[in-house]
Amino acid sequence: MTKTQATPERLHVAQAAKEYAEFLAKFEAKKTTDDCFTPPEVFAAVHEWAATEYELQDRRIVRPFHPGGDFVAFDYQPGDVVLDNPPFSIISKIRGFYDARGIDYFLFAPSLTLFSTKAPTMLVVDETIEYANGAKVATSFITSLEPQTRVRTAPALAQALKAQRPVKDALPKYVYPANVRNSAILQRISSVDFRIPANECEFISELDSQAANGKTIFGGGIIMSNAKAADLKAAELKAAVESTEWRLSPRELQIVERLNKSMAHTESPNTAPLFA
Ligand SMILES: C[S@@+](CC[C@H](N)C(=O)[O-])C[C@H]1O[C@@H](n2cnc3c(N)ncnc32)[C@H](O)[C@@H]1O
Repeated sequence: MTKTQATPERLHVAQAAKEYAEFLAKFEAKKTTDDCFTPPEVFAAVHEWAATEYELQDRRIVRPFHPGGDFVAFDYQPGDVVLDNPPFSIISKIRGFYDARGIDYFLFAPSLTLFSTKAPTMLVVDETIEYANGAKVATSFITSLEPQTRVRTAPALAQALKAQRPVKDALPKYVYPANVRNSAILQRISSVDFRIPANECEFISELDSQAANGKTIFGGGIIMSNAKAADLKAAELKAAVESTEWRLSPRELQIVERLNKSMAHTESPNTAPLFA
């Protein structure tokens, strides 16, 4: 279904998200990630995905996180599901509170430190959401609604969030001949020792093929000899593979071995073994 198709349920979700945004608009905008208000269309997309995925149609969705709010004192009813964007700085405390009380939740979470939340299920979505205060935060999710899964992706949710991104003019992507580079492209090999002697290159501001389109090389460029272009190619390959590989210790290999053996077990998981 595309985002332009309106069903009564979809209109209801979108209207509720809009009214909630109007409620939040009364509060002064701050800039920290804890104060990132969720655009209503983003919340509606998350709500829709979660409601379908976890069959939440008959459950009350609550949002206890707002300025001056107190999620501990909130009046949770049996069957409630907390679907909200909490302050990330205390997200582990929040999920611990809900897990201890058996309150179900589906919460926005910071992508970069997702696993440190130690939630029953962590959804690696990693969509950069632009919040109402302009902050752009790589966002994933945690939930109690799927305890049999520890880590998963959710491509349809990622796609739904992507569809809500404000449309910006895409920057054109140019590929230059091997003998031509500008400084922005050369930055990619700054970790590799590489130099071009003065007698093997010249400055140019545009290629003849660009002139017909009124284009230039952004920031100016250099054209170099074939020998230097070949060295550059090698440097680009080297820069691409330069990374540190961490290896498993014998102790960690034993953990993997244990997990391999327990693969066939279907008993209900708990968070203790993974995060002990
Ligand atoms: C990331 S913002 C999200 C606000 C809103 N729920 C949304 O989705 O747009 C988190 C909000 O939680 C509020 N907050 C901070 N500590 C809280 C607490 N202990 N209980 C409830 N809300 C809290 C912050 O003031 C902030 O407004």
